[in-house]
Amino acid sequence: MKTNVLELKRRKAGRLVMLTAYDYPSAKLASEAGVDLLLVGDSLGMVVLGYDSTVPVTMEEMLHHAKAARRGAPEAFIVADLPFLSYATPEQALANAARFMKEARADSVKLEGGLEVVPVVEALARAGVPVLGHAGLTPQTASALGGYKLQGKDEANARRILEECEALERAGCWGIVLEMVPAPLARLATQRLSIPTIGIGAGPDCDGQVLVFHDLVGLFSGFTPSFVKRYAEAGAAIRDAIARYAAEVRDGEFPGASQSFGMNEEVLERLYGR
Ligand code: KIV
Repeated sequence: MKTNVLELKRRKAGRLVMLTAYDYPSAKLASEAGVDLLLVGDSLGMVVLGYDSTVPVTMEEMLHHAKAARRGAPEAFIVADLPFLSYATPEQALANAARFMKEARADSVKLEGGLEVVPVVEALARAGVPVLGHAGLTPQTASALGGYKLQGKDEANARRILEECEALERAGCWGIVLEMVPAPLARLATQRLSIPTIGIGAGPDCDGQVLVFHDLVGLFSGFTPSFVKRYAEAGAAIRDAIARYAAEVRDGEFPGASQSFGMNEEVLERLYGR
């Protein structure tokens, strides 16, 4: 049965499993493998579309991929990432969240930021849009944070992240992704909040974990953060399969008899006889 926000909140400390998915096959595989939540993340920009950051990703690109993910996992709880500058005002956020929910049948949206996004979260929550917050390292504004770096190492920054998490909960988020913060800080945030935390590079004590699909299965050869664990080398397996195909075509081995269609001999004879 499809899960919902109330059930997800009840599963605080329930070890939620979240994985990104960007299309029909990745969503289908992830849901068949039993993940609890799919995230159509704007990491799409790097791992699928070849951009060098999440900044160029557009609403149209996100919608295109969220719709494909929904077709691959009709029963999954799908969270869609609002891309950079698609939620600068409550009005803009509402319009874009409506597109995700009505056109792509997403169950929730995710947005990045702390105190500055509180009015946006409040407006979405008031309108009945389930919102997942995202604190710590926020990739859309990573350059303002000094790059893809661990956040909350010193007392002032750790306090800021805790305050942001509490403000996001008060504003109406049903959960918060905590990215690249020290494990003890993530543990403290998880203890202080009554909504689930979902960690990525945030240690083992969050209520759930999320990874990027392409990192997990070894399909992305660009920069891979040290907190990622690869469970497969799908990229190498695919490259090897393609190289074998190319060699067999060149050697005349493919297609063989079992990949070809025959035809009636008499018809063939008549064709040859003109
Ligand atoms: O876009 C994304 O994949 C994300 C995860 C890293 C949480 O936001």
